[in-house]
Amino acid sequence: MPLEDFPRYPLTFGPSPVHPLERLSDHLDGARVWAKREDCNSGLAYGGNKVRKLEYLVPDALAQGADTLVSIGGVQSNHTRQVAAVAARVGLKAVLVQERWVDWPDSVNTDSMYERVGNILLSRIMGAEVRLDPSGFGIGIKDSWESALDDVRSRGGVPYGIPAGASDHRLGGLGFAGWADEVRAQEAELGVFFDTVVVCAVTGSTLAGMIAGFAGQDRPRRVIGIDASAKIDETRAQVERIARRTASLLELGRELRDDEITVLPGWAGDAYGIPVRSTIDAIRLTGELEGVILDPVYEGKSMAALLDLVRDGEIGSDSTVLYAHLGGQPALNAYSGAFG
Ligand SMILES: Cc1ncc(COP(=O)(O)O)c(C=O)c1O
Repeated sequence: MPLEDFPRYPLTFGPSPVHPLERLSDHLDGARVWAKREDCNSGLAYGGNKVRKLEYLVPDALAQGADTLVSIGGVQSNHTRQVAAVAARVGLKAVLVQERWVDWPDSVNTDSMYERVGNILLSRIMGAEVRLDPSGFGIGIKDSWESALDDVRSRGGVPYGIPAGASDHRLGGLGFAGWADEVRAQEAELGVFFDTVVVCAVTGSTLAGMIAGFAGQDRPRRVIGIDASAKIDETRAQVERIARRTASLLELGRELRDDEITVLPGWAGDAYGIPVRSTIDAIRLTGELEGVILDPVYEGKSMAALLDLVRDGEIGSDSTVLYAHLGGQPALNAYSGAFG
């Protein structure tokens, strides 16, 4: 059925801002670059891409009579922080499994500070039950999450499971299918057309939702996903699966073509959550030229890709590019050592 027929619980301010990055574009002397700002999309704990996804999961949780949102991510997960905020806003409890997805020996903060500052601090402030778990990175369904769901049941609660990134969930792609509609409406208002969209991908439903949403529009554009998981095959497979599932849920009326699904490797470095030289350079350049802050786990990596693709002419100088800023800045507190 069409997106507007799915129940939606408003958690965002409305359409997220779109604006040109003029000094960055002048510096690149190629394509013109704009940003659409999911990092300021909501008043809930600094917002971010998950708030937009959760607008479509909350009505389902409430309809099921759930009293606890149970989710999972790394220690510095933006997703679990946003689940904590949404639970607080809606009046539900949150149980969050925080796994050791990243081996980050911050040279300024001690290891234990990584587990205290940034996103995890915010989740604690918002009253979530935070469970540290030693398991490593993985976007699939985890035992630690299943046992958190069981624990809520055994205490007499009604859990609602939200997988990592709210991605591998029937409704996980809807929020960003809506983003595609929003972009089209903003283009009409601004008199601009974004022929290329650059977006970070890890658990997949942000990019997958966009692909499904844009596939229903008349005017083709390039949506370039940038892998930040350093596990390109898994990310690509997940994006493909969720994009096709979302397209069919929205009754697109055709199969997605393979050429509509692009996830590029090359900027993630060796491991999820570890910034590399190009990440830090991209964060500094965007900060120095625009006063726009990016994080070292996701957005710094997708911006590094955008910069290279424009500089190499892979994105041509006649292009108008939309950079999807998906949020994530609270994690910066846990990475101060990377900035000297
Ligand atoms: C700031 C930020 N950017 C990008 C992503 C990637 O989005 P997705 O997991 O939907 O692929 C995430 C979450 O994983 C995120 O928190």
